[in-house]
Amino acid sequence: MARPLVCVRDYEEEARRLLPLSTLGYYQSGALDEVTLKENKEAMNRWYIRPRLLRDVHQRSASTTILGHRVSAPIGIAPTAMQRMASTDGECATARAAARFGTVYTMSTISTSSVEEVAQQAPSSLRFFQLYIYKDREVTAKLVRRAEAAGFSALVLTVDAPTFGIRREDLRTKFTLPSHLKLANFMADNNMSSRMNSSTGGSGANEYVKAIFDPTLNWGDVAWLKRLTKLPIVLKGILTAEDALLGLEAGATAIWISNHGARQVDGVPPTIEALPEIVKAVDGRCEVYVDGGFSSGTHIFKALALGAQMVFLGRPLLWGLTCEGEEGAYNILKILQQELDSTMALSGCATVKDITRDMVIRREYYSHL
Ligand code: LAC
Repeated sequence: MARPLVCVRDYEEEARRLLPLSTLGYYQSGALDEVTLKENKEAMNRWYIRPRLLRDVHQRSASTTILGHRVSAPIGIAPTAMQRMASTDGECATARAAARFGTVYTMSTISTSSVEEVAQQAPSSLRFFQLYIYKDREVTAKLVRRAEAAGFSALVLTVDAPTFGIRREDLRTKFTLPSHLKLANFMADNNMSSRMNSSTGGSGANEYVKAIFDPTLNWGDVAWLKRLTKLPIVLKGILTAEDALLGLEAGATAIWISNHGARQVDGVPPTIEALPEIVKAVDGRCEVYVDGGFSSGTHIFKALALGAQMVFLGRPLLWGLTCEGEEGAYNILKILQQELDSTMALSGCATVKDITRDMVIRREYYSHL
């Protein structure tokens, strides 16, 4: 009998066995030496939890809100690209899992299902749309109009990708999207929808980005996007207090701290370390989210204590999808919720408001006593 999958790591190990090498390489890679990829995980252990006891935790809820929408836990789905490489229904399965669980699904522009399909397959889901700025602005503008029409509630502008980082495994496998799959948001244009299906000998993903993403991406583009839509704009990829403040000035509704799953600049800080400086700079003026290396309930607890409103996960959902499709994506969310709930109960927190800043401390504190 197969061993039951009871945590994110179990799903990850199983997914590694199941996925073709080029897909696995694309999903799991970080940039260059993957220092930040490793750090994203290790940094979680540099923070210790300071539990408070005897605080009656018999009734608990991790329910919270994001941009005014109620969700059952501060656990959201980060955008990851081309999910049909993991399971047949891809993005549609992920959105249905999010709806069932009661949280937000962030859909990638670079998806193998279209915004319309996802809206139709998961009509009750709370969905954000992740956006890239293309050299041809009309491509981006059209996507915005379609996301609005398809009932998406916010735009998540990825600000850390004027181009893509170098991911060595994609060079080795000469990564391309398998030919039976297409970039479904671009079906109206055969050239655009099949652009990821080939490479000239390097990484197909990097070649795609180099050809059509706009490397002139700058703060003026945030203003451009604001003029284009009434949807709230979340800026994803912020890693410094300086950029968080510029983001606020530019009219962002929320700041999403991310190092893009360690796939862009290698050597940037792990996101949990960037969190305190940004929370302090923003000082309650907008919601702050974080992603990057989160894979257990204790990690989520720590980010909440450090001031995140919502913790997003990318790869763990891909592992869930790979192993068990929609059910697997749902199980990942459920497992994380149960682990967060257990950590809350054992640390004296009945609600997420009880998870305060004094409940985490740097490991070094204990060596200076
Ligand atoms: C990546 C893009 C698609 O990191 O976000 O591959």
